[in-house]
Amino acid sequence: MCGIIGRVGSDNVVPYLLNGLECLEYRGYDSAGIAVHTENGISFCKTVGRLAGLREKTENEKTSGFVGIGHTRWATHGGPTETNAHPHFSHDRKFALVHNGIIENSNELAETELAGVSFNSETDTEKVVHLLTKYYNGNVVETISKVISLLKGSYALGILCTDYPNTIFSTAMASPMVVAQTQDGGFICSDAGAISAYSKEYYPVKNGEICVLNDSSISFFSPDGQPMEKQAVKIDVDELTTDKQGYEHYMMLEMLQQPTAIKKTIMPLIKDNKINLENVDITDDYIQNTLREVVIVACGSAYHAGVVGKQLIESMCKIRASAEIASEFRYVDPLIDEHTLAVFISQSGETADTLAALRLAKQKGAKILSIVNVSGSAIANESDNVIFTRAGREVAVATTKAYSAQLAVLYALTLRLAKGKNMLAEDVEKKMIHELASLPQKIQQTIDKNIEKAELYANKFAEATDIYYIGRRLDYAASLEASLKMKEISYIHSEAYAAGELKHGTLSLVDPGVPVVALAGDAEIFGKTYSNICEVLARGAHMLVVTNESNAELVSEFEDTFIVPDTLPQFNVSLQIVPLQLLSYYTAKKKGCDIDKPKNLAKSVTVE
Ligand code: F6R
Repeated sequence: MCGIIGRVGSDNVVPYLLNGLECLEYRGYDSAGIAVHTENGISFCKTVGRLAGLREKTENEKTSGFVGIGHTRWATHGGPTETNAHPHFSHDRKFALVHNGIIENSNELAETELAGVSFNSETDTEKVVHLLTKYYNGNVVETISKVISLLKGSYALGILCTDYPNTIFSTAMASPMVVAQTQDGGFICSDAGAISAYSKEYYPVKNGEICVLNDSSISFFSPDGQPMEKQAVKIDVDELTTDKQGYEHYMMLEMLQQPTAIKKTIMPLIKDNKINLENVDITDDYIQNTLREVVIVACGSAYHAGVVGKQLIESMCKIRASAEIASEFRYVDPLIDEHTLAVFISQSGETADTLAALRLAKQKGAKILSIVNVSGSAIANESDNVIFTRAGREVAVATTKAYSAQLAVLYALTLRLAKGKNMLAEDVEKKMIHELASLPQKIQQTIDKNIEKAELYANKFAEATDIYYIGRRLDYAASLEASLKMKEISYIHSEAYAAGELKHGTLSLVDPGVPVVALAGDAEIFGKTYSNICEVLARGAHMLVVTNESNAELVSEFEDTFIVPDTLPQFNVSLQIVPLQLLSYYTAKKKGCDIDKPKNLAKSVTVE
C-alpha cells in the first residue's frame, strides 16, 4: 500500500519523482521521500505528511541528480515518522532502498541474519537494506537474488547502489512493479498509470524477477540471477487516464462517469439480446451437473457488491450462494470444493486478502472467476476466468464507479447462471436484458434529479455525529455500501441495519434529530420497511427516504426524499446508491474533509 517510482534520465530527476509520487499518493500518503545519486553519494529528502511538504523541502534543499527513487508510504511497521519514511539506507550508505509490501519474517531476520546490526527505524524494510550490504559481492543482481531468497512476504523494491550511479535495480513479489524504457533511460513504478505520459509500453516485474535499468538498457533476470527475456505490454491509455477534467475532486468526476462505466462494462457482455460471457468457462453442462454453490469473496465495497450478487443468485438461479469477507474467509477453512464457483471481486486486483482467498479457493479445487477493473493485476493474472469491469481508472479512494460496474457484471453473471439452470423464462430474460441495457440512462436520470437535493440535504447531515441506514433484502445490501461511503469520507459514524433488526438493540441510539436513511425500493416488502420507518420516526429521527417513482406518493409526507426511476427490483441498488454517494460527497465537502484521500486509508490494500 505504498507507491514507488524511480527514474534514470538526462535531466533533473526530482520533478519526475515528485510528479510520479503525486499520481501514486492514492496508494498511501502518510509520509514520502526520495533518494538521488549525486557526485557525493546518495542524497535524500523525507517528510511526514502529504507530498506538498516533500516538494517544498526538496526545493529548499536544492536536491537534484539524474537518477533517483521515490516512495509514498502507508504506514504498517512503525508509525508515520520521518525516520520510518522511505528510502532506507545501509549503514555504509552504499545502498538506498524503497519498498512496497510486507516482509513477514523481518523480526526473525533481525535476530538471525542480522544479529548484532542496529536499526534506525521500526520498519521491516530496513532489514532488507542491511541484508544487501551483508551479501554484497560487487554484483548487485547476485546480491538481490541472495537477499530475496531469505525474504517471506510481499515486496516491490527500488534500489540504488553507489557503485552503479547510472542504474536502478528493482525486483517484485506479489506487489506491483512495472519498468518502462525511454530514450534517455526509463522508469520503475508501482503503477503504469503514473508513467504513461513517458512511455506507451511497460514490462511487469513479478515473481521475484530482477530488473536492471540504466541510461542505455533494461535487462531482466530470473529470481536466481539468470538473464531472461520479457515481453512488453502496451499501456491501455483509456484505463490509465487520470485527468480530473476540471472537477474539484476525482470522486465527483467518477460518480458522474457511472453511466459510461456501466455502458462500457455491459456492452461486451450482451450479444443479440442475450448474455454472452465469452472467454468464461461456464457452460450449461457445468451449471447443471457440477455447480452446487457460488461463493463470492471480496473486501469493503466489493464485498457489498457481493452481498447483492449472493441475493440475486439465490433468488433467481436457485443456487446456494454466499458473500464472504476475504480476510475472514481465508482463515476459516471454508467448505468449498470442485463444485464451488468462487467469485472474487476487486477493483484494484491487488487486495492482499482477496488474492490470498483466491489462492486458497484454487487449492481446494473451486472454479475461479474474478471480476476485476485493472487488467494485468495479480488477481486478474491468477484467475482462470476474468470478467473485467470497464470503469476506467478510479483514483478517489472511495469507490463509486467501480462498485457500480461490479454490480453490472453480477447482474450479467446471475442471468447467465439462471439461464443455464433453466430458471429464466424467455420473456423475463428479454425484459431483464432490456432493463440492464437501460441502466446507464436511468443512472443519468437519477443523477440529474437528485444532485441538487443531495447538496441541500448535506447541510443537515454535516451536523450529525451518527447516521443510520436501514433497508430490507437488496435495500439492505445497498445500505451497507451507502453507510460505508458516508463514514469513510465524512468521518461521521454511520451504520447500516437490516430494517427489521434495528429494534433489537440499536433503536436505543435513535434520539430526536438523528438522521436515519431508509432505503425503501423493494415493492414486495415496502409495507414492512414502512413500519420500520414509522418506528424511527416515532423516536424523532430525521428521515431521508429513498424510493422509486411509483412509490413517490407513498413517501410524499417526508421532507427529505431521493426519488429514483422505476426499474426491475433486481437493479434497484444501482440507482439507489447514486444519490447516497452524492450525499456522502457533499456532506464530506461541507465538513471540509479531504474527499479523495480520506485519512488512514489507501486505494489499494496490499497488506493483510
Ligand atoms: C471503499 C473502498 C474499499 C474497497 C476495498 C477493496 O470505498 O473502495 O472498501 O472496496 O478496499 O478494494 P478492491 O476492490 O481494490 O479489492
